[in-house]
Amino acid sequence: MCGIIGYCGNEEATNILVEGLSALEYRGYDSSGIAVFNKSGIEVIKAVGKLENMKKLLEKREVVAAAHCGIGHTRWATHGKPSDANAHPHSTDLVSLVHNGIIENYAELKEKLIAVDGYEFLSETDTEVAAKLFDKYYRISGDPFRAIALALNEIRGSYAFGIIFKDYPDTVFATRKDSPLICATHKDGNFIASDIPAVLRRTNQYYMMEQGEVAVVTKDKIEFFDLFHNPIEKELKIADWDLEAAEKGNFDHFMIKEIHEEPTVIRRTVSPRVTENGVDLKIAGLTDDILDSFRRIIFVACGTAMHAGMIGKTVIEQMARISVNVEIASEFRYADPVLYPDDLVVIISQSGETADTLAALRLAKEKGCKTLAVVNVVGSSISREADYVLYTWAGPEIAVASTKAYSVQVSSMYLLALKFAQIKGTVAQSEILRLSDLLLNKMPELVGGIIERCPEIKNISAELMEAEDVFFIGRGLDYSLSMEGSLKLKEISYIHSEAYAAGELKHGTISLITDGVPVIALATNDACYEKMISNIKEVKARGAKVFLICKEGALGYEEVSDFCFMLPRTDEKFMPLLAVAVLQIFAYYVSLLRGCDVDKPRNLAKSVTVE
Ligand code: M6R
Repeated sequence: MCGIIGYCGNEEATNILVEGLSALEYRGYDSSGIAVFNKSGIEVIKAVGKLENMKKLLEKREVVAAAHCGIGHTRWATHGKPSDANAHPHSTDLVSLVHNGIIENYAELKEKLIAVDGYEFLSETDTEVAAKLFDKYYRISGDPFRAIALALNEIRGSYAFGIIFKDYPDTVFATRKDSPLICATHKDGNFIASDIPAVLRRTNQYYMMEQGEVAVVTKDKIEFFDLFHNPIEKELKIADWDLEAAEKGNFDHFMIKEIHEEPTVIRRTVSPRVTENGVDLKIAGLTDDILDSFRRIIFVACGTAMHAGMIGKTVIEQMARISVNVEIASEFRYADPVLYPDDLVVIISQSGETADTLAALRLAKEKGCKTLAVVNVVGSSISREADYVLYTWAGPEIAVASTKAYSVQVSSMYLLALKFAQIKGTVAQSEILRLSDLLLNKMPELVGGIIERCPEIKNISAELMEAEDVFFIGRGLDYSLSMEGSLKLKEISYIHSEAYAAGELKHGTISLITDGVPVIALATNDACYEKMISNIKEVKARGAKVFLICKEGALGYEEVSDFCFMLPRTDEKFMPLLAVAVLQIFAYYVSLLRGCDVDKPRNLAKSVTVE
């Protein structure tokens, strides 16, 4: 979604702002803009489309070259189409600001600002209302801090604001509620940013801004206050994400780079939690007594993270015999769910900022449940608000399509399943040790083996690049994987696809299977293998072109498949880690062959911070 950067320092602000915005491109955007101080006031440059368009405008405007302080933004359209007018910063004569989030009562505020205060509006955005409000209260109070406090008092919704005032040419003001914002520091200047990668080229030292705090950022210092102007002391943090982790290196795209990182990040996530006695989650605050007190687990997440929860449900129910529900966060939060005090609500999120997932976490807490966050971004809102945190150690995931983050979310599901099974005594200790060892020591290597077979998967992808509709089918864990494979394909290749439980197809959807329609069939489960073969025959009989993913040594595959990819045999529970790599690589090549923007698919944003 939208990205924010702000800078005050010795260097040319425009360069730094543009550099920060390029690092934020991965979040998804459709226009960009900056506002910097020049000799006569605030100069705003913005353009619809790619950052390149804004850079071209900048080349023509020498006047901004001397600026040392300013704010920048990439906008992902919500209120109003992508256009120059709707792009941020939004400004008045006195104030210019960038905004992430949504001002929910903007219509009511706008009406008042027009009717009572005589303001005119130039855009369709909710954000412009904030610019006018800050302007109004600055005119009344003559004090930026007071103006911010008074305006925030009227604004309902979520926001991270970077604000500059014409009369304060060396200062960026920032504040947030329900939308993340950091301040970062470096010997040559100070920053605000919506996300650490925006500043990582310059510094890894940052402060996390909390709800309702105001930061006053100048070249030499960053000060924090509450809304009553009381100073706040904050701890300086060091991001352990290095620059290399947030850059493409020798790869053509972040997505394929991140897939190649899967063996490393699975090991990094699993290894601190596996001991000679099995799985230890005390580091996440989860003692055996605490874990034993839960009677039911509810996974709540969105998109890919929710699909990881589906894998979690199957493996935890099978191994630990605890009842598990999986809920889509955007549904859960408005469903008035039945929750009990001995439920554990597990929130899964790569970014830790997804608006619906965060709201679901808050709801679960309000209803008296304990919450565990399985989250990738350290210090994110979800990680800070949950009772317990199990970090996935995927490092920065830049491609919009989630790949390595899914692999470590699934690995975390195995850790939870093993731990609960150990505590509940539902799996023999020797088996727990065997599985933990397999997960830690063998699975990364096997995943690496799949990734080495990219050329084989690329050939299969070529068969599909012209497809208009694709179906993914599977049973059990393979059904959950089908959901993820289908999402991956549609989000980056724009091919319509659906995932079905293989046995469910004949209850309606099989009517869509006609000559040449591609069906990707996953059959990695021995117990259901014969049933899957029957289901595949049903689609084959109707002309489907079948791409089968099965295990080495599977019988009868030649008869039912046009193309077959065989996975090495290992414990069945862990097959999703292998199969998903095939599906991800497959989606990557289809997208590439179709000439799509692999890392930044249209209309999508990396971190969905609005509902
Ligand atoms: O950051 P989160 O894990 O909370 O994000 C949830 C979804 O938006 C995300 O998984 C999305 O579905 C992926 N981009 C799909 O690849």
